[in-house]
Amino acid sequence: MATWPTLHVSQHPAVRHKLGILRDVETEPKKFREVVRELSWLLGYEALADARTRPVDVPTPLEVMAGEELADRIGFVPILRAGLGMVDAFLELMPTAQVWHLGLFRDEKTLRPVEYYNKLPNSAAVDLCLILDPMLATGGSATAAIEVLKRWGAARIQLVNLIAAPEGVEAVTKAHPDVEIYTASLDRQLNEKGYIMPGLGDAGDRQFGTGGAG
Ligand code: PRP
Ligand code: URA
Repeated sequence: MATWPTLHVSQHPAVRHKLGILRDVETEPKKFREVVRELSWLLGYEALADARTRPVDVPTPLEVMAGEELADRIGFVPILRAGLGMVDAFLELMPTAQVWHLGLFRDEKTLRPVEYYNKLPNSAAVDLCLILDPMLATGGSATAAIEVLKRWGAARIQLVNLIAAPEGVEAVTKAHPDVEIYTASLDRQLNEKGYIMPGLGDAGDRQFGTGGAG
């Protein structure tokens, strides 16, 4: 298996435990959404470990101490639809972050991404952008999202997925070697329909109760 210097696969036991619940075909949408949120919290904690802080005086009841506050201006870019389930957890971690929605769906015949919604403001007034999407399959959607953000002026971009396929990691890394990828799992491969194996089926359908398991 190839190794990618920008790929970070969480090794946390809580992540591995929750992934089993997420993948289980018997997990119904309510529970599925809960676990997406919990995993997003854990992955967000790891992905945001490099965010920069600056010194600030903090008055405790006893004295003033040298504390820290977040210095980076952070933007979260959830990819509709499935990325929506990751937003609340990331906002709990970083309440001052801004959220910009990007609508991309994958044409199931061509497997190419189609952009249908873009809520980015005119210029990128942030230091760090995190793209949120549970699934990295062919990498078409992630690559398109990164290109949109780079054209927009984003400097530091990270991609956060719950499950990644090697094909998707290869595609993103080749096109954008500067983008760090954080994932809970690196799965085996794509099947002939472009689904991640063993994966979890269609992440959007499973969150929103709109279809089968893929
Ligand atoms: C899924 C997923 C990614 C994309 C990954 O979205 O959430 O955005 O597929 O596939 P790729 O790496 O091959 O591009 P989908 O197109 O099913 O849209 P949805 O979230 O609206 O269900
Ligand atoms: N999108 C999904 O939701 N699941 C996959 O396995 C591949 C793309």
